Amino acid sequence: FRHPRRNSARGHGTPRWDAFKAVAPNARLGDMGIELLTAPLPRGSLILGSFSDIEIEREAYRLQEVIKQPVKWGLETCRAIAPLTLEINQLKRENDVFLIAHSYQTPDIIYGVADSVADSYALSKEARDAPQQTILFSSVRFMAETAKIVSPHKVVLHPSPEAGCSLSDGITAQDVRDLKQAYPGVPIACYINTSAAVKAECDVCVTSSNYLRICEKLPGERLIFVPDRFMGKHLQNALAGKKEVVVFDGECEVHAIFTGDKIRSWRNRTANLVMELMVLSHPECDADVLEESDFVGSSEVLMEEALRLASEGKRDLMLITECGTADRVIAESDEELNLIGACVMCRHMKVTQLEDILQALRNPRPEQIVEIESDVIDRAGHCLNEMFRLAG
Ligand code: 13P
Ligand code: SF4
Repeated sequence: FRHPRRNSARGHGTPRWDAFKAVAPNARLGDMGIELLTAPLPRGSLILGSFSDIEIEREAYRLQEVIKQPVKWGLETCRAIAPLTLEINQLKRENDVFLIAHSYQTPDIIYGVADSVADSYALSKEARDAPQQTILFSSVRFMAETAKIVSPHKVVLHPSPEAGCSLSDGITAQDVRDLKQAYPGVPIACYINTSAAVKAECDVCVTSSNYLRICEKLPGERLIFVPDRFMGKHLQNALAGKKEVVVFDGECEVHAIFTGDKIRSWRNRTANLVMELMVLSHPECDADVLEESDFVGSSEVLMEEALRLASEGKRDLMLITECGTADRVIAESDEELNLIGACVMCRHMKVTQLEDILQALRNPRPEQIVEIESDVIDRAGHCLNEMFRLAG
C-alpha cells in the first residue's frame, strides 16, 4: 500500500480565485504566498473517548510534527483533535479497517488517520486490492462508490454521503443514454468523477492520470467523453486529426476558477523579483491554463513533481489546483518552499471532518454504508475494469 510518508472548513459556497490569498508558509512572500485553510476544529457532535493526558500530549506533538503548519495547526489545535485521531486509529486496528483518504482531505485526516492517500486512480486500485474487508473512504461520494464497485464483497463506509462533486452531480445515466441514442456505436469514456449509474452506461472509465493514454487507444474515429468539458477540450486538442471527440458540458467548480490571464500576471510579478516560477496544473483546468503551465498532472502526480522540483532547488512553485495539494507538499517536503498565488478549496471534499469518520466507525448510519444495485455494480465494474486494462 501507499502510505503517507509520515503516517502516524466546512463548505462556504463556491469559492472565487481571489478569495484565498496571503499568509504564506514562507512569511517573506507577503501577499504573494497562498493562504492555507484554517484547521477545522471539532464541532462537539460526539462524546469523546477518554485518553490520559500523556496520550493526548504525545498525539498532539505527533500531529503537529507530521502536518508541519505550526501557525494553522498549532499545539492547541492538535490537542483538541488528538482524542479523535487516537480513537479512530484504535477502532481501525480493532476492526481491521483500511482508511483511504483523497489528497484533498484535510491534513488531520491525511496525516492523522489515513492508511493510504493518493489520487483517484491509485485509490481505486488500493480499494480493490486491500486485504481488509472494511474500507472507510474519506472523500466525496463518487470515490466511495467506486471502491464499492471494484470490491463489492467488502463493506465500504462513507462518512459524508452528502459530499458530492460538481462534475458527478452534473450528469445522469439518462444523459448518457441520450448520447448513445444520438451517436449509436460510438465508444463512451467517462471521467471517474461520475456516479455508479453513469459508469454503468459507459464503455470505459478514465482518471486525470490516464485519460489521454486510454482515449487514444479506443477503437474508431469518434469518441464521446463525459462529463468534463475542459478535459474533453484537451482530448480534442490531443487527438485532432485522429479522432473526433464529442464532449459533454460539465466542469469542476474548483478548477474552472483558474485562468491563463491570472497565471500570466503572477509570472510577471515573480519575474520582476527574479523568481523562477514553476506552474503545476490539474487537467480539470481550462486549456489556456494548461498552455501557461510547466507541468500538468493528477493531484498525486502534481505533489510528486513539486517535491521533485523542490529537491532540485526549484522552490518558487504555483499549484493550480485544490488547496489540499499545497497542504501535502508542505507536509512532505524537506525544503522551505515559496508557494505562490492562490489555491481554491473544494467545499465538497472539505465536508468530512474527523468526527464524521469516528461516528461512521463507531456506529455507521445506513446511508454511510455504500450500497449499489448488483446490476449497476456489474456494468460499472466492467467500465472500471476496462480502465485498469487499458491504463497499464
Ligand atoms: P485526481 O484523480 O487527480 O485526484 O482528481 C480527482 C478530483 O476530483 C480532482 O478534482
Ligand atoms: Fe469535484 Fe472539483 Fe471537488 Fe474534485 S475538486 S471533487 S472535481 S468539485
